[in-house]
Amino acid sequence: MITPAHITAIRPYIPGKPIDELERELGIEHSVKLASNENPLGPSPKALDAVSEALSSINRYPDGEGYHLKNAIAAKWKVRPEEILLGNGSNELIEIVIRTYLMPGDETVMATPSFVVYDSTVRAAGGISCNVPLKDGRHDLSAMAERITEKTRLVFIANPNNPTGTTVSHAEVSLLFESLPDNCLLVMDEAYFEYVTDPDFPDSISFLRQGHDLLILRTFSKAYGLAGLRIGYAIGPRQVIKTMNRIRQPFNTNAPAQAAACAALKDNEHLNRVLEINEKGKSYLEAELNRLGQFFLPTQANFIYINLPDGFSSETLYNSLLRKGVIVRPAGPDVIRVTIGLPEENRRFINAFEDILGVFQ
Ligand SMILES: Cc1ncc(COP(=O)(O)O)c(C=O)c1O
Repeated sequence: MITPAHITAIRPYIPGKPIDELERELGIEHSVKLASNENPLGPSPKALDAVSEALSSINRYPDGEGYHLKNAIAAKWKVRPEEILLGNGSNELIEIVIRTYLMPGDETVMATPSFVVYDSTVRAAGGISCNVPLKDGRHDLSAMAERITEKTRLVFIANPNNPTGTTVSHAEVSLLFESLPDNCLLVMDEAYFEYVTDPDFPDSISFLRQGHDLLILRTFSKAYGLAGLRIGYAIGPRQVIKTMNRIRQPFNTNAPAQAAACAALKDNEHLNRVLEINEKGKSYLEAELNRLGQFFLPTQANFIYINLPDGFSSETLYNSLLRKGVIVRPAGPDVIRVTIGLPEENRRFINAFEDILGVFQ
């Protein structure tokens, strides 16, 4: 088979090895995984009960429309069920929006570094990724606006951004809409928005109400702790949702995931506990990184982007941390991204990091 050149050009996503396999290979135990921005507390017990109940019916296909979950999301965010599309994680929604609107040769504007899936999915569709460097670790929306041409169909903003944890403000997004031409859809990927505390964070649904061409992506994988079930949602103009709906698989989200997400949405107590643990972990890590004299970006999410001192490569640090049972994510040649964990996990990371810095300095 001849592989098309645009497929060969895609760098494959390299998943981490399963923890048990890594531990066996390295002869370590009780390692902590701070590599994938997962929720360290786990899902709501009510979501787990809902999964157990849903399991007895898995001989049946799920409700392909996700009636109950769409209604629950609609009630929570005061939107209409017709403005919602469910996805097998928000990853699938990224793929659907790209496959729906991008023709080969069309352009998509995105930041770099940002969530890697935008770039690879655009390329897989034969589209062109226009990567605009972050400025001071944040999306440079005026540079992104300048990069928009008559061939641009999509603009992606991860807000907060992965891997930096930085955000763009309501006023900045307002300004971007002024330069967004017709026939160009802004995709605001808000996978981590539940964690945000910045009062200037965009009220993205209000932009929808103003009639802007906007698709908002959210997920149950992060603050709701349901990453393994694969469930996310998009909120957008009815026409956009209707069009995207044409190309999704009929049963793209499974029944246990829909049931768990419905239950999780109602459990505010659990969500608040998750957010409180994250805030405490963030304060601890920021204070400790300051004590160690390390440069990091202030985060609005559940992970921290740390610039390594001169002479440190992220690959070497990653391997040294791994041997101490701490798994993080290299996010560039001299940066790592560390997920905020439970208090003990954060301590494990800081202790290991401090040890390694001491050895190499
Ligand atoms: C910015 C961003 N968007 C989307 C996703 C995909 O999340 P999921 O497919 O689990 O909903 C992630 C996952 O890490 C992410 O960081």
